[in-house]
Amino acid sequence: MPRHLLSMADLDAEGIRTILDTATQMHDVQKREVKKIPTLRGRTIINLFFEDSTRTRSSFEIAGKWMSADTINITGKGSSASKGESLRDTVRTIDAMGVDAIVMRHGASGAAHQVASWVQAHVINAGDGTHEHPTQALLDAYTMERRLGSLEGRHVAIVGDLTHSRVVRSNLISLRRLGADVTVVAPPTLMPSGIGTWAQREGFALSHDLDEVLQAQGPGRPVDALMMLRVQKERMSGGYFPTAREYTVGYGLTRDRLMRLTDANPHLVICHPGPMNRGLEISADAADAAQSLVLDQVSAGVAVRMSVLYHLLAGADDPIGAVATNEGSAA
Ligand code: NCD
Repeated sequence: MPRHLLSMADLDAEGIRTILDTATQMHDVQKREVKKIPTLRGRTIINLFFEDSTRTRSSFEIAGKWMSADTINITGKGSSASKGESLRDTVRTIDAMGVDAIVMRHGASGAAHQVASWVQAHVINAGDGTHEHPTQALLDAYTMERRLGSLEGRHVAIVGDLTHSRVVRSNLISLRRLGADVTVVAPPTLMPSGIGTWAQREGFALSHDLDEVLQAQGPGRPVDALMMLRVQKERMSGGYFPTAREYTVGYGLTRDRLMRLTDANPHLVICHPGPMNRGLEISADAADAAQSLVLDQVSAGVAVRMSVLYHLLAGADDPIGAVATNEGSAA
């Protein structure tokens, strides 16, 4: 296991498999009445979030607590960063207290990498600008595998605001390493520059036509999983599409598209990392459909983050099998 988890590229296929397998055991802990295992007793984890978050921050906090670590939350607004302290001084201050891990989210791409070079603690990237969000990709893979089985040869379409999405960048690495075929779909204005070269190198497909991708037939081609991405308005400085209505007509998972799709492929699953813009990239019908895995993704987020913390902080020194079966089981 790497010392830090900064990018999905830090994990090869075997590393991803190890994290996902342990997450299955952690998911069992999550289902118990008494959700507590001693695995990280005596360790301290700081969640340092300079950007807003509901799912990621609380699931890291819950994951740490369920493994008996001491977890502390610091937000940008509540820290000395708001008094002008530099990121380097902030993280070195935290590190000097002797913490074991810093889970961090920051608006600047590359921030987690920088922090890792300044501190002794393990660093986990919980989202850096438009760059990466590796634990999201791990929980996405975990959730899809639970419903679809192995992702080898499965076709995943990732649709929406690719330019501003750190989720897509991490997912492209993990899905390709797990053997999935991937098509990314976006209007030309929301395709990141240089994506053509990247697609050639990593072997994924590009499209501007959602309906064409969804209608594709033939062996291995129909879409097995549809991952809708949020239109990230907070990162947009100008007009990337004429109107919200036009975006929805071209790229939204509308009720109409959902019906056509599920008629053609009843096994299709729908993912969204959240938070959702209902009515923009995903209709309420699709978000709440039987095929939607949105809440499964949230639930998997805790198990996967437990697994990541376990492998980075305790790892092979502390056999999970013994811990997961002997301690904290429901009365
Ligand atoms: C994502 C993020 O923050 O990058 N959300 C999340 O972590 N669940 C995606 C998003 O904000 O659209």
